[in-house]
Amino acid sequence: MPNGQGPHVLLTGANGFVASHILWILIDRGYNVTATVRSQEKAEDIIKTHPDWLGKVEFAIVADFTSAKPFDHLFDDSKTPFNYVIHTASPVTFSVKDIQKEIIEPAEMGTTAILIAAENHCGAALKRFVLLGSAVSVLDSFEDISKPGKPYTEKNWNPVTAKQAIEHKDNVLGYNVSKTRAERAAWNFMKEKSPTFDLVVINPDIITGPMTHPISGPKSINETNQFAIANFIDGTHKEIEGVRFPFYHFVDVRDVARSHVDALENSAAANQRILLISGLITPQLVANYLRKNFPELRSRVPEGNPAQLLPPGW
Ligand SMILES: NC(=O)c1ccc[n+]([C@@H]2O[C@H](COP(=O)([O-])OP(=O)(O)OC[C@H]3O[C@@H](n4cnc5c(N)ncnc54)[C@H](OP(=O)(O)O)[C@@H]3O)[C@@H](O)[C@H]2O)c1
Repeated sequence: MPNGQGPHVLLTGANGFVASHILWILIDRGYNVTATVRSQEKAEDIIKTHPDWLGKVEFAIVADFTSAKPFDHLFDDSKTPFNYVIHTASPVTFSVKDIQKEIIEPAEMGTTAILIAAENHCGAALKRFVLLGSAVSVLDSFEDISKPGKPYTEKNWNPVTAKQAIEHKDNVLGYNVSKTRAERAAWNFMKEKSPTFDLVVINPDIITGPMTHPISGPKSINETNQFAIANFIDGTHKEIEGVRFPFYHFVDVRDVARSHVDALENSAAANQRILLISGLITPQLVANYLRKNFPELRSRVPEGNPAQLLPPGW
């Protein structure tokens, strides 16, 4: 079966953990999909992982997404105009040497570059730009979670700055800055340029769940499944006490992916930020869950104190 006959969607970072689920749904629903990856090899890995997707997705190689140029060409050279963009590509890593260059700049410049190219080259055919943001641009990185606080809403913004992340040498803070600045850049762009398309930002908390992206071994487990799940099985955590997460709520990757595809054509989503949060996740909850549901792994998962679900001091 050829690439879908439905509206034409550009999906960036298609080999990623979340984007692979989005791609799956786009193909299932008959969208005509062009998907960007950073190399031909990464496109081939997707097809090796999902041979039945051959011919159902067109790949475009964008090695450097921090300049608008590759997207200018991509939009200009396309046989059919693009109707939607889903932008997911952004660094998700907590092990870098240079927070500014390796996390913050690519996130912010990548988002701005594709928005500029879309405005200049897509014309009125482009209806909507859906940005995979993050709850970290809503939640306050410095909140004292041992005290009751006010509920968050989509009106909140994380006050964290690049200076704080760099001074603290804290890569998680750096990631939070990257997502906040990328999202702010997108809303500022909309305000300044008033393009013909609208913007939807989806802001999920920690995303966990099954992996459908190309995996070559334990090292290619995505960052959040690694710290929230795999680290409890692979010997990283010898005990639960002292284990901390950057945030304490999660959402399933399949719900996140469905939300992005639903957001393409739902008029209520226009110009909204949409927080996605499913439930609480704490180190003890993860240990309890693994030990109960995967008895064969029990000897590898630290027991902790099964009744103490929240970290001490909460
Ligand atoms: N996982 C979560 O808990 C979570 C929560 C909220 C929001 N998000 C957001 O969801 C999106 C996808 O995250 P994920 O968990 O699926 O991560 P992932 O599996 O690491 O996927 C990240 C994707 O972005 C691409 N990318 C990273 N740095 C890049 C750069 N400098 N230039 C071009 N492409 C780059 C990666 O390409 P390569 O494979 O070539 O490196 C990959 O395709 C990100 O925007 C992330 O901030 C994730």
